[in-house]
Amino acid sequence: FNVLVLNGPNLNMLGKREPEIYGSQSLVDIIAALEVKAESLEINLQHLQSNAEHELIDALHQAHNKVDFIIINPAAFTHTSVALRDALLTVNIPFIEVHLSNVHKREEFRQHSYLSDIAEGVICGLGAKGYEYALDSASQALNK
Ligand code: DQA
Repeated sequence: FNVLVLNGPNLNMLGKREPEIYGSQSLVDIIAALEVKAESLEINLQHLQSNAEHELIDALHQAHNKVDFIIINPAAFTHTSVALRDALLTVNIPFIEVHLSNVHKREEFRQHSYLSDIAEGVICGLGAKGYEYALDSASQALNK
């Protein structure tokens, strides 16, 4: 199975960026751990981080009919992007929304997501482990 991991704006700065909120691991570390896990689950993992909304949307379009499951941390686009929502609806690939932090105990503007109601599931507040739990869950769903 093919799983695409998408990370939105500022996540390339993980480890340096507000570590008390987002942890000390870099995105490279997180993806490396995820790749090890993917191999054990016999999943082919693709990954893109972008600070540009259109690049994430283009990656979704390219995933159409090629990718079986998506794990996405849309970062700030979670709270702003109708376009990302529409792209996910367009390609109609099941996805899990992941956030490192518990967005529900933060600022009010982080409480609304344009994606959650169309996601298979949402994981937040569990740090980098959230991506691994999402991959486990994707694997289970795909092998059913
Ligand atoms: C985030 C939460 C978002 O509110 C924020 O804009 C981010 C990261 C998280 O992983 O906790 O950039 O998606």
